[in-house]
Amino acid sequence: MHAAVIQAADAPPVYREHPAPEPRHGDELAVEVLAAGLHHLTRAKANGSHYSGDAAYPLVPGVDGVVRDQEGNVRYAVLDDTPLGTFADRTLIDPRRSVILPDGIDPVRIAAAMNPAMSSWVALRRRVDFHAGQRVLVLGATGNAGRMAVQIAKLFGAAHVIAAGRDAARLSALTALGADETITFDEVGRAADVDVVIDYVWGEPAAGAMIPMLVARADRTVPLTWIQIGSVAGPTAPIPAAALRSARLRIVGSGIGSVPARDILAELPELASAVTGGAIDVRARAVPLARIGEVWTEETGDRIVLVP
Ligand SMILES: NC(=O)c1ccc[n+]([C@@H]2O[C@H](COP(=O)([O-])OP(=O)(O)OC[C@H]3O[C@@H](n4cnc5c(N)ncnc54)[C@H](OP(=O)(O)O)[C@@H]3O)[C@@H](O)[C@H]2O)c1
Repeated sequence: MHAAVIQAADAPPVYREHPAPEPRHGDELAVEVLAAGLHHLTRAKANGSHYSGDAAYPLVPGVDGVVRDQEGNVRYAVLDDTPLGTFADRTLIDPRRSVILPDGIDPVRIAAAMNPAMSSWVALRRRVDFHAGQRVLVLGATGNAGRMAVQIAKLFGAAHVIAAGRDAARLSALTALGADETITFDEVGRAADVDVVIDYVWGEPAAGAMIPMLVARADRTVPLTWIQIGSVAGPTAPIPAAALRSARLRIVGSGIGSVPARDILAELPELASAVTGGAIDVRARAVPLARIGEVWTEETGDRIVLVP
């Protein structure tokens, strides 16, 4: 079979022949890969920079994907830490970390959507006490995960969703996806009275947003839960001490480790049916796996999905 193979942390993947995998125990299934997304997590795991653990080389990247098992079932699967990911013609999955998808689904769409959609879905369901009627700010709303967070917050009954970003044209497109307001980062004072912030940005923009938001709150004793999910603007943020004293602010993170794997896996069936049922708008671009070297570092609005 063929796979994308990475030999060292700073080396790009190379498409080449690779031994086909054989299951090592009863919990593994050898499956055909139909589509696998190139997510931030995929790159971070492959270069060893992700907080969840070191990488061992050589490795085949790919943290999840849509696969077909020997019985012909099409599944969405999330891989555990492994040197054989989904950027291959075939891989090994643990069926307990997968969900069987309905007939006729588009594997590219599912592979593109599940990772970014899971970020807000799991955070709102499993990490914080979110309930219908609350007001939500999505900080960094123009990326794949942010666009989906706007839609998922509405799906879960948010009364008002504010989408914040740095690109005015991309922001304006979010109204059609359910955003009640769109604002730039320097207008976050207008989002003062939200209950939940879903933050994909961190770094200076997140730190800079806090005080203007907090001082403008009508009642600073009303809880504000800030969920740290992504850090596209920087891995550290200079949070002013006053932010934590002057309002009822709670900062939590949501990701692998802060949410148990069993909780994340438990959300897969419902999330998969929301995506397959068309409840979430998805931007995907299919690219043949043989071209992995050309797209590995590409920054693009559409989620790249590798297909055999
Ligand atoms: N914890 C979890 O469960 C989880 C799951 C999935 C993703 N994530 C994380 O969430 C983040 C976003 O993922 P994604 O899939 O949505 O990525 P994406 O599709 O590549 O989108 C990136 C977003 O970041 C914005 N951005 C990039 N650099 C920025 C900067 N310097 N300042 C402000 N905004 C900036 C982009 O804005 P423009 O539109 O203006 O370019 C865009 O909105 C990543 O950090 C990813 O690792 C976390």
